[in-house]
Formats: sequence, structure tokens, C-alpha cells
Amino acid sequence: MTEENAKTRLKQLAMEIRIADAQYYGDDAPTLTDAEYDAYRQELLALEAEFPHLILADSPSQKVGVKPSGKFGKISHKVPMLSLDNAFTDEDVKDFSARIKRFLNLPDDMVLEFTAEPKIDGLSAALRYEGGKLVSGATRGDGRTGEDVTANLRTLGTVPKVLSGEGWPDVLEIRGEVYIDHDDFVTMNAAQVAAGKDAYKNPRNAAAGSLRQIDPNITAKRPLKLFAYTWGDISAPLSDTQMGAVEAMERWGFSINPNMKVHKSASAMIEHYHEIETARAGLGYDIDGVVYKVNDLALQDRLGFVSRAPRWAIAHKFPAEKAITTVNDIEIQVGRTGALTPVAKLEPITVGGVVVSNATLHNEDEIKRLGVKAGDTVEIQRAGDVIPQVIRVTKDGGSAVFLYPTVCPICAAPAINDVDEKTGRVDIVRRCTNGLNCPAQAIEGFKHFVSRRAYDIDGMGAKQIEAFYERKLVLQPADIFTLEVRNPEIQLEKWEGWGETSAKNLFAAINARRSIDFSRFLYALGIRHIGQGNANLLAKHYLEWDKFYTAILSIGDEASLAWSELMAIDGVGPGAASAVRDFFNAPGNQTIITNLLEHVDVIAAEAPSDDSPVAGKTVVFTGKLERFSRDEAKAKAQSLGAKVSGSVSAKTDYVVAGPGAGSKLKKATELGVKVMSEDEWLDLVN
Ligand code: IVH
Repeated sequence: MTEENAKTRLKQLAMEIRIADAQYYGDDAPTLTDAEYDAYRQELLALEAEFPHLILADSPSQKVGVKPSGKFGKISHKVPMLSLDNAFTDEDVKDFSARIKRFLNLPDDMVLEFTAEPKIDGLSAALRYEGGKLVSGATRGDGRTGEDVTANLRTLGTVPKVLSGEGWPDVLEIRGEVYIDHDDFVTMNAAQVAAGKDAYKNPRNAAAGSLRQIDPNITAKRPLKLFAYTWGDISAPLSDTQMGAVEAMERWGFSINPNMKVHKSASAMIEHYHEIETARAGLGYDIDGVVYKVNDLALQDRLGFVSRAPRWAIAHKFPAEKAITTVNDIEIQVGRTGALTPVAKLEPITVGGVVVSNATLHNEDEIKRLGVKAGDTVEIQRAGDVIPQVIRVTKDGGSAVFLYPTVCPICAAPAINDVDEKTGRVDIVRRCTNGLNCPAQAIEGFKHFVSRRAYDIDGMGAKQIEAFYERKLVLQPADIFTLEVRNPEIQLEKWEGWGETSAKNLFAAINARRSIDFSRFLYALGIRHIGQGNANLLAKHYLEWDKFYTAILSIGDEASLAWSELMAIDGVGPGAASAVRDFFNAPGNQTIITNLLEHVDVIAAEAPSDDSPVAGKTVVFTGKLERFSRDEAKAKAQSLGAKVSGSVSAKTDYVVAGPGAGSKLKKATELGVKVMSEDEWLDLVN
């Protein structure tokens, strides 16, 4: 390379790396893959070695602290890190309390205690102590596996390295929220800017970016703090109550939020919520709501979880923040399921500390309802992580009415509103009818397939997917797994932005995914209504892929056993069940799956606690249950691996009969099925 070319290339590389650094450390949303980033850095270092006199004073190679490549190890959470359901109104909070009483079969007028505390707007972390010493620290990640940021968490003053006091269990995993105070945020951003770096958008991004620094020395300089509020894996109970457990955490050296209180009624909780809302601006750190938790830990245990959130807690969110701006244009995006979604492209505006330039308009009806057009002035709102929305038009800009497309803007195939065969109801969402032949649907589907919660293939981002798709190299998921054997023709290492290392890394990342958990595999397929929660429920129920696939393919009509089995899975609704049936019965999809299975092994899900006395048994509850509600009985039985059925047959193992049991009890006796009382059932399962 000539000196002149080297000079230009070095400048380009320095710029690319600086942008990537800013994104990685600043917004926490890098556009370069790690492999690309590494390749850039290697090229830069090689050129600098060849032309040492061309090294720029501000070259990324001259910066101390930031290591060339960055990856954290993984830590799998023994107890999953869940999210919280949301409540938005006082009514939602009352419903929450009533729902819990119903589930536990408690009288309406019984006093039930709840804790209430601020919902900190930061990022959660898990700290593991063994023998009172901090041994590891992780981010939440996808809830099951997080990043190993032990060295970084150690630098926080509010994270005890050794526990104080006494009475802590040998294994103690404390969870809490890492955040940055408002004052510290301002000071830290001023320093960022003075050092020629981009300012962080808000304290939460700053906290996330600071915790995920490759160099813990940098994290040490960031003003991170942690409030402890819950726990994961523990070798002994912390207390009988939520409040007691959190107070114990304080004695062991953790910071706990001072605004946590115990209440005895929904109205007292709501009152506390309004107090915290009033105090919000003066707290000195960002919060986005109030979290309520059942105080009695034995009751929390009985309540358990629904898919990704506990039944015993809820987040009461603060109302959305609003702003006025203009709509520059209305654009139609086509998603993974073909849904056409109109998006308002806005004149950028800051709402609640974040710059907003897009807002969803949901669908055609919403555009009509709002009467919104390009050029209009609108009021928008943004709540937490929810996509900003347009609430109303405040001034007509005078341009023509938006014409909703009847063809897909990407592939020009007809876009139609589905009609429900049974109800005749017309879906409000218009969808492209071209399936995976539509580039937008195919590309969005691939992005989902390789995303973190699905296949999680490092080095395969949106840009790479688009490039592979456009060159017709990846047209179905199986193609990803043959890239390496096809590489002698493809020669990925010669593509712009790629090199030997990044190509090798990508193939390694793909090969690492040749076996995959059943639930991830199912989720990755991108079936409508099958998010992580439903994918988990299905995997836990069928355990093995083959069993599941055979069962779904055998659904002939709604009278089939396979269909009733699918419909009987707790938490899987009719929409999800139909979507699963339709997806796997579409011949095109069967080919896609057969091809994919030539390259990947699906790992069977673990049978839920098969050491339980009822694992694999079929149970029927009948009569008026007095010790628990039917929902609780069902949830408990399922969590122990039992199947709950609504009717008694020769296949039934146990019938649990309360007072007033009638025909089912009679049938059980006739068939010789074991009948037990509620107390006998409780003895068996506890
Ligand atoms: S309890 C099983 N308490 O909110 C429930 N979470 O939306 C465990 N968060 O992932 C969470 N403040 O990162 C809890 N006082 C608080 C919280 C809190 C913030 C976050 C946490 C969680 C998310 C759920």
C-alpha cells in the first residue's frame, strides 16, 4: 500500500472504531459486530506497524484502558431473572390484589400485606456470595444467561465484597438495580464531552454502558450505585417476609431503598404510589413506577410464576411523558409476520430525557382515528421502554390524506386484512401475502432467528443478514449452517468489511449453535404468538422436539386428542395454539424445518422436577375446593410435572375431591382411580 493510501485508510479506520466505541460504551447499541470491530482494529494495528510515522495522535491504538476486543464470559442464572407485569391504573392495582386473593382462595375482606417500593430505572444485576464472599456478578442478559461482569461490579462502593453482620446463608445471590444519580450523571457527561466523547443519553444508558466496560478500571471511575431488592439462588431462606429479607440485606451491608414500606390494602398502596410520584423529581435518581410485592414469602411461594413474571408482584408504572412535534413523513414498515405498520417520522424531540424521531401509528384504523398526515403537528407520548406513540393531532398541516397502501411497499404483493374463518371478523392489521418470498418478511424473520433470545449467533447482525440475503446466499435458516462449506465459492473473507478473522469467528459462532434448546429452537422459528414464554411452555410440556412435532402434525381437526392436549396447556391460549397448528401444517414450513434439522440437534427440555411424587401423573380436581383455588391447584400440579385434566378416564392417576363432588367422583370410584381429599393432596405435594 502506498503511504498516501495508508494515511487515508488509517483515518477511516480510526473513525469507524471511534464511532463503534461511542456506540458500544455510549448507547449500548453497537451497529458493528464484535468480529467486524476486531477486524478493523487488527487492520489499523497492522498498518500502524508498517507505517509507524503515520500513527495519529488520537488513534484508537493510543488510548489506554480500552482493550481491542471485548467479550464477557457467560453466567447462567440458577434461578431465572424475571420481569414484572405492569399496572397502569388504580383499578389495575385493585385487580392485582383481588386476583391474588382469588388464587389463594382467601376471603375478600382478609388483610393481605404488600410491600411497595420505587421501581429503579437502571439495569439489574445478580451478585453471588459463597461463605460471605463475593464470588461472581452478572447482568440479567436474557433472564437465563447473563454476562460475567464480576470485576466491574466489584468496583461499586455499594457492592459489599465481604458480607457484614451475621446470619447470611452460605450461598446467597442478591439481586438489585445498578443506577447513576442525576448529579453524578451531569458531572460524568461533562467529563465525557470534555474528553471528546459522546454524551450518554440518559442515566440508564450511562449505567449500562459503564457496567459493561471491558476495562474495570473505567467502570471504577463511573459513579455506579446499587439498590438491593430481591434474591436468586440461596441455600437457606432469608426471612419469612419480603420486608424482613430486605432488612436482612441491609444488615449484611447492602444499600436498600429508603422508600420501601409495608401496606395492608390496595388503597394504602395506591396512596404510597402517589407519594412517591410527588417525591419523584427530588429523589435524585430515575424511577419509572412503584413495585408491589406480596410480603409473606410462603404466599409468594404458593403464588409462583406465570411465564416470565411472578404472580406475587406487579409494577405500577408512572404515566407516560408527553411532547409536541411535527410529522415529517409517514412510512410503512413490513415486519416478520408481514404486518404493515405505519410509522410517523418525527422532527426529533426530547421526551423524558430521550430523543424521539419515530412513533408507531399501529395500523390503518389508528391513522384514520387520529386523522394524522405528513406535515401535521402532533402530541406524542413515551412510557418507559414502550415505543413512542402519537396521541393526537394538535394542528393540521394542510397536506393530503394519507393513502394506506393495498400492496406491500417492499415486494408489491397484495396486502390484505385477514378474515377470521369462524367469527368473520376482519383483522385491523393489513399483511403482505407473499410470505417468505417477500424480502422484508424473510429478512425480518432471519433477524429474529439469529437474535439474542433465539439462536444468538454473534457476528450475524442485521447488516450481515441483509448482505447474505441480497446475494441469495441465505434464503432459508438451513443456509446459515452451510455457509462455511460453501465458503470456497463465497470467499467471505474478501468481502468489504470482512477479513480472515471475522469470517472465521462467524463460522465458529454458527458452529457453536448446531445444538440448541427446544424452547429457543421453537422461538427462533418466529411463529405468530409464540414468544419466549409460550415457547417455554410448549417445550416444558412436550419435552422432546419429535414428540411435539408429531403431535402437532397429527392435529386433524379440533376433535383430535392432539388438539385438546395442546389447548389444555396452562398459559397457551387459543390464538397461540392455532398459530402453532397452522405454522407446522403449512407444507413450505415443513420443508424449511426438515432442511434445518439436517444441521442442528434440538436438545430436549428438562422434565420439571421428576423427583416429585406427581411428575407425569394425570390429576383431576373436582368439587368445591376449600384449601386453595382451582387455579392454584392446577398451577402447583403443573409446576411439579403433573398433567391436569378436566375429565376422569382410565388414564387418570388421582382425583382430588372437595365437598360436593359429583359425577367425576362417581366415575373415579367406578374406574378404581385413586381419590384423595384436599389435605391428602397437600401432604403428597408438599
Ligand atoms: S423485583 C421477580 N424490584 O424492573 C421480580 N425489580 O420490569 C424481580 N426493577 O428486571 C424484580 N426496581 O430490573 C424489582 N424495586 C424493584 C425494582 C425492580 C427496578 C427492575 C428489575 C426488573 C425489572 C422488571
